[in-house]
Amino acid sequence: MGVTLLGLLSALLAAPASAEILFATSYNDHAVTSLHLNGSALSVVSKSYDCGSEPTWLTLDSSNKVLYCLNEGWGGAASITSYKPSADGILSKLNVLPVLKSPVASTLFGPKNGGLAVAYYDTSSFQTFNVGDAKNLSLLQKETYTLTTPGKVPERQDVPHLHDAVLDPTGSYIVVPDLGSDLLRIYNIDKGTTNVKEGTPVKAIPGSGPRHAAFAVLGKNTYLYTVNELSNTITGYSVGINKSAGHDHGGRKFIKAPAHELEFTRIFDFSTHGPGGSVPAGTKSAEIVVSPDQKFVILSSRGENLLTFPNLDPSNPTPLVSDPIISFAIDEKSGNLKLIQTAPAGGRNPRGFSLNKAGTLVASALQDDNRVVIIERDVKTGLLGKIVASATVGVGANNGPNYALFNE
Ligand SMILES: *[C@@H]1O[C@H](CO)[C@@H](O)[C@H](O)[C@H]1NC(C)=O
Ligand SMILES: *[C@@H]1O[C@H](CO)[C@@H](O)[C@H](O)[C@H]1NC(C)=O
Ligand SMILES: *[C@@H]1O[C@H](CO)[C@@H](O)[C@H](O)[C@H]1NC(C)=O
Repeated sequence: MGVTLLGLLSALLAAPASAEILFATSYNDHAVTSLHLNGSALSVVSKSYDCGSEPTWLTLDSSNKVLYCLNEGWGGAASITSYKPSADGILSKLNVLPVLKSPVASTLFGPKNGGLAVAYYDTSSFQTFNVGDAKNLSLLQKETYTLTTPGKVPERQDVPHLHDAVLDPTGSYIVVPDLGSDLLRIYNIDKGTTNVKEGTPVKAIPGSGPRHAAFAVLGKNTYLYTVNELSNTITGYSVGINKSAGHDHGGRKFIKAPAHELEFTRIFDFSTHGPGGSVPAGTKSAEIVVSPDQKFVILSSRGENLLTFPNLDPSNPTPLVSDPIISFAIDEKSGNLKLIQTAPAGGRNPRGFSLNKAGTLVASALQDDNRVVIIERDVKTGLLGKIVASATVGVGANNGPNYALFNE
């Protein structure tokens, strides 16, 4: 008993529950910024420039304590950097691997998180990497796609644009929304390996431009939600496994008949602002996240600038302009969504945001304001509350911070 209390006490003293480390990427200062959150104070711990010219997506392997950073390399010199984060947030470079231009999202997969799957926007590609040794990243498989005819939104759908890579809840499949092709590309992972085989793609609504996706598991039901950048809608699918599928699709190098396939049934597609909602011209929806308790879908939308919130400088009475973060409650039985809140994202152009593990905090990166904010969130109701902390990340006009991730 005494030992337990003592252990608890020293654990509390060593790591105050309120103190957390976050990482934020920013294009305009070309850095990965480590931030320390302590109550209402969000402070910059350090900056790393090892991720290259345009740091964007971050994937954290918390079990192996490795952070992967994608560099879009707008000038062409794109890369993946692996880092070892220290407990206080200092990033030490482990390896840098040059890759195709414009990797925009990644996911870990396979035994011991030994694989990293990457989606490429400009170069219309999907690639997997061996990251079993984070000091020696290497390419495993690659595929580049083409379009025979442009999509319904030709200026954005001239070629395939792969925009996200999401591991399914069973760890057996990777789903890759392709904004240019209006497809969800599906990759089946060979059990116990980091080999993938391409399955039958799922057709999204023409002209919708699926950008990012998130799974939710509620009881026996699995759902997938995509946020669609071109139509500014959200599509819901119920997900099952089709045991009768198993034919070949396309005869590409690494593509063979999968034994089983994921099966998607579209439930709905409606505005990012809920059924009947609308957005101003120029709006581009961005991120989608399912809350850790699987009960809520949360998305961000860019270019609306219709909301305001109190100035972060309490002595300044002028409110600040903001885009929204929009929350929906998931109906467990049907997968349908109910709009519950349209809250300020903490500024303009919220390209990327994430939740902490407890679901009590949202870290939001505001690309047009050189700002990262922390917003409190009520786990029970799913409602976002006030902005509890903020920090300046990025320098100069536009193209500032684009993603923020908790180190947990
Ligand atoms: C958090 O802030 C409090 C109050 O300023 C301070 O006493 C404490 O040492 C800080 N904790 C950490 C881990 O920095
Ligand atoms: C790095 O990985 C490659 C590809 O798997 C392998 O051929 C090479 O031997 C590895 N190098 C080191 C130093 O481990
Ligand atoms: C399951 O797979 C079979 C064989 O490929 C196919 O004919 C059928 O349409 C699929 N079912 C669904 C619901 O996708």
